[in-house]
Amino acid sequence: MDSRPIGMFDSGFGGLTVARATIDLLPGEDLVYLGDTARYPYGSKPQDVVLSHSLEIANHLVAKYDIKILVVACNTAAAAALDELSAALDIPVIGVVEPGVRAALDVTESNRIGVIATVGTVSSEAYPAAVKAANPPADLNLTVTACPGFVEFVERGVVSGAEVNVLATALLKPVVDADVDTLLLGCTHYPYLARPIADVMGRDVVLVSSADETAFELKDLLTIQDLNHPAPGRTGQHKFISSGDVAAFKNLGSRLLGPELTDAMRWDPPSR
Ligand code: DGL
Repeated sequence: MDSRPIGMFDSGFGGLTVARATIDLLPGEDLVYLGDTARYPYGSKPQDVVLSHSLEIANHLVAKYDIKILVVACNTAAAAALDELSAALDIPVIGVVEPGVRAALDVTESNRIGVIATVGTVSSEAYPAAVKAANPPADLNLTVTACPGFVEFVERGVVSGAEVNVLATALLKPVVDADVDTLLLGCTHYPYLARPIADVMGRDVVLVSSADETAFELKDLLTIQDLNHPAPGRTGQHKFISSGDVAAFKNLGSRLLGPELTDAMRWDPPSR
C-alpha cells in the first residue's frame, strides 16, 4: 500500500485524455499532472531535446511531489525517453505506446491498422517496433503516418471547424487509402479531434485511443507492485501544473478534462 500520488506528464493538454481515464478508473488515487505548455510541441523537436525535457519533468515530479509511479502520457516522450526514464528513476514508469498497440490489435478484424502520430513519434519507429514485439498476425498491414498541425489546433482549443476538416482530409489520406479498419490515435492530443477524424475515416473504421488501455495497465501495475492507496473509497486529490500560462491552462484544461481541473500551478523548467 502506498499513499503517494501518481505522476503524469505530457507536452501540454493531450495527456489529459489519459488523466481523465485514470481519474475515472482509480478515483481514490491522488494524481499530479504536468503539462509542459511552455515547450510544446514535442513532436517537431529532436529526440534528444524531448529526452532532456522528459528527464527534467520526471526529476521535478519525484523531488517535489514524491510520486510513486510515472505515467508518460505523451507518445512522443514515451518514444524518445521511456527506457531512459525507467533506468534513471527508482519508481515504475509506464508509457502509452504499448497499451495502444495492444488495444488496436484486439480491435482489428481485417488486420489492417493505421497509426497517426507526431513527426517525432513516426520517425522514432516506436510503433512498428511495439507492434512487432506484440506478436501480430502474419498478415498484419500497418500504415503509420504523421499529422503535423493537429496538436497545435488542440493546444489552441480548436477541435472542430473548416480548418481542422481540411487538414484532417489531407493528412489522413494515407490511412484512408490503406483501407484500415482500425485507426490508433498515437498521440494523446488526438482523441480531442476524434469527431473530425471520424468524419474523414468513415463509420466503419474504429478509432482507438491509448488512454483507457493505459489506465488499465496502471491499475494492474499498482496492484501487482502493492502500490494502491491504503484507503479505498476515498476521493483522490488532483493537482495540475503548467510550465506556461497557468490561467490559460486552467481555462482550456477544465474544458478538456472536466470539473476536477479547478486550478493550475506554475513550474519554471530549468531549460527552455
Ligand atoms: N501528446 C503528445 C503525443 O502524444 C504530443 C505532442 C506534441 O507534439 O507536443 O505525442
